[in-house]
Amino acid sequence: MNKKYELIYEGKAKKVFSHDDSDKVIIEFKDDATAFNALKKAKFEGKGKLNCLISARIFEHLKKKNIPTHFLRLKNENTMIAKKIKVIPLEIVLRNIAYGSLCKQTTIKPRTVLAKPLIDIYLKNDELNDPLITRDRIELMKILSSKDLDLIIDLTLKINSILKNFFKKIQLQLVDFKLEFGYDFKNNILLADEISPDNCRLWDLQQKNDMIISLDKDRFRNDLGGLIEAYSEINRRINNFI
Ligand code: TMP
Repeated sequence: MNKKYELIYEGKAKKVFSHDDSDKVIIEFKDDATAFNALKKAKFEGKGKLNCLISARIFEHLKKKNIPTHFLRLKNENTMIAKKIKVIPLEIVLRNIAYGSLCKQTTIKPRTVLAKPLIDIYLKNDELNDPLITRDRIELMKILSSKDLDLIIDLTLKINSILKNFFKKIQLQLVDFKLEFGYDFKNNILLADEISPDNCRLWDLQQKNDMIISLDKDRFRNDLGGLIEAYSEINRRINNFI
């Protein structure tokens, strides 16, 4: 990245830089991968580029469906220009099928199709290990108003309907995903962060037998190998579709 841009924030998978316009930022997607709150770390050459391209295409699709997002445009293959936002420190997870932590923390069996989408909200705080949080605790911490929480939940459900359809058309099952939101300078709530195989579970519907073929970060979390091949396949299917 050009030196004139100031690094504002560095996360586990992205760097955020200042932009000439004070209401915009430049987001660079890194090749780093972490799991289990960074207990597990690795680098995958080309992951940043793939997640940036996949996220850009998905944000464009959501924009067409009237979902407000921070995405403005791609700058290059691993960098995008986005609206500057104040991050809401919550991770909104929506689950269509039971898997991952839901099955470790409850008696619900993996692969159970949920009668309706389940929304689990986590506090975005690495020191506390992103704990599951309640509506009352969110209000108590004054993270956001009950009205804005309802708005975020409503947006998450809409995004799920749009993305489930979108991925189905490219033979992928959207198992679950994690979203982050923020406020722009006019106090509008925007979808932020990224939407990529790093924060969605996507299973291949082209698989004919009963085996799960994960085309997402579970390839790294569960030591399955072939992460770049899986992300490339998702990018390829999206580009063929759009
Ligand atoms: P979980 O089953 O581990 O709770 O994950 C649910 C979904 O949220 C899955 O698609 C992965 C995503 N996720 C993130 O994007 N970041 C995280 O830190 C965690 C824990 C999950």
